[in-house]
Amino acid sequence: MFHDHLHLRFVKSQCQYHQLKITHILSYLDLYFSKVNLSDLRGIIKVHVDTWKTAYHRIISEDFLQSLSYEEKEANWRQRLEKPTHGAIIYVAEADQNEIIGFALATLEIYNPIVALLEAERYNGELCAIYVLKEFQRKKIGTELVHMVVKYFILNNIYRMITWVLKESPYRRFYEKLGGKYIGGQFLEIGGRKYSEVAYAWENINKILLK
Ligand SMILES: CC(C)(COP(=O)(O)OP(=O)(O)OC[C@H]1O[C@@H](n2cnc3c(N)ncnc32)[C@H](O)[C@@H]1OP(=O)(O)O)[C@@H](O)C(=O)NCCC(=O)NCCS
Repeated sequence: MFHDHLHLRFVKSQCQYHQLKITHILSYLDLYFSKVNLSDLRGIIKVHVDTWKTAYHRIISEDFLQSLSYEEKEANWRQRLEKPTHGAIIYVAEADQNEIIGFALATLEIYNPIVALLEAERYNGELCAIYVLKEFQRKKIGTELVHMVVKYFILNNIYRMITWVLKESPYRRFYEKLGGKYIGGQFLEIGGRKYSEVAYAWENINKILLK
């Protein structure tokens, strides 16, 4: 399926900014803000599960990836949309016919004892997750989603951001291209196995908007 026109929709729960059209428009992307609603649930889950399967198939155990299903993700995502954590935000990218093709999830404050060990508690904005369906990758949609997160952080007087990514992931390059600096690593458990993840951080996220 080919989409020559995409628009990004801004989804936020405690939303003061909805229905605001922003000025930054790429040639092939119209960007809109709108309020989160539960009808986004299926689309977000699909992007989450499908992107994991394509992005991590040589990195995470195949058995685990096979076991992922839309159904098992539903409860968590429903909770995030219905009762969002304070300061959490979700942006979605939509293609034609309102198909969700990517999303970013971010939070204003982080609490993570391991992060504290890395002195990373100074990074009070966290980009928790960002996924773009494989067929839409490398079209700058991920960059646009990060820009929207950054603008949200800046609106909330937050200028330092952190994100975590699997150490073996080729997508680390995305964060490096955005100017993220490697600041350390930790282990995480996925499906009963240990994997390494690394943190990238930005001291001044304004610079990301220039990328
Ligand atoms: C990472 C991700 C969100 C990036 O979104 P995207 O729309 O594909 O990225 P962009 O088009 O904005 O990429 C911007 C730049 O980042 C770099 N980049 C992005 N993906 C890359 C990859 N797979 N390998 C190397 N560099 C990459 C490139 O320099 C790219 O610019 P270019 O295409 O002009 O060379 C998306 O590819 C994705 O969902 N990946 C799988 C899931 C994942 O790893 N998410 C992050 C951890 S939660």
